[in-house]
Amino acid sequence: MLIELENTTKIYNQRKPNEVTALHDVSLQIEDQTMVCLQGASGSGKSTLLAIIGCVFPPTSGRASIAGKQLSRMPDRFLTIHRRESIGFIFQQFNILPRLSVLDNITLPLMPLGISPGARKTRARKLMDRLSISHRENFPAGQISGGEMQRVAIARALINNQPIILADEPTAHLDSRLSTEFMQIMADLKTAGKTIIIASHDTLVSKHHAVDKIINIRDGRLHVP
Ligand SMILES: Nc1ncnc2c1ncn2[C@@H]1O[C@H](COP(=O)(O)OP(=O)(O)OP(=O)(O)O)[C@@H](O)[C@H]1O
Ligand SMILES: [Mg+2]
Repeated sequence: MLIELENTTKIYNQRKPNEVTALHDVSLQIEDQTMVCLQGASGSGKSTLLAIIGCVFPPTSGRASIAGKQLSRMPDRFLTIHRRESIGFIFQQFNILPRLSVLDNITLPLMPLGISPGARKTRARKLMDRLSISHRENFPAGQISGGEMQRVAIARALINNQPIILADEPTAHLDSRLSTEFMQIMADLKTAGKTIIIASHDTLVSKHHAVDKIINIRDGRLHVP
């Protein structure tokens, strides 16, 4: 199993006046090469669940096994390495650095890995080609269209060939044409072997034919239909 949570709880600010239990006893299994849509109201715990799966922090209690490793007692340093190798993130605002070129935005995750500039470029060019943004390679990323920015964000999430892609409300700022295009790219990535989890309220996402499972989260608890 690629992703397995067992009685996972996440408490922010534990034992402080502002303590929040964002996830309660969550158990879930996600197999290789599946697409999951995560739904829930604002504050229900979607981003927290993605952060645990994304190895941003370990759970407060319970077990989380992600791409073959147990997070629970993993030191921060190893968590960071495991995250870089296993997880590609796509954020709502895409987190593009506007002054950097498209190429440099895409290769950013490779910087700490000691990969040569030539090898970084070769990898990025393959992705830019696949995502039809090669003609924007040297543009500052702040000077391209919204749809192009989205594809830069996708390329960046794929650059290290991570098996798991996490997307947090990726279509929130896109029109329906770009949202449909986004889902087509995700569907192709699933076919190519990736496992994809998308937190989204958008019916263009949840009703997409490539979605294998919808998980509902309410007040930090899962409701799997
Ligand atoms: N860093 C943090 N410190 C303290 N509490 C937090 C932190 N991040 C989130 N929370 C709280 O944890 C709960 C779950 O938040 P989370 O961001 O996971 O929800 P969400 O479902 O992603 O919401 P949204 O749809 O608004 O993005 C909320 O009550 C939130 O206020
Ligand atoms: Mg959120």
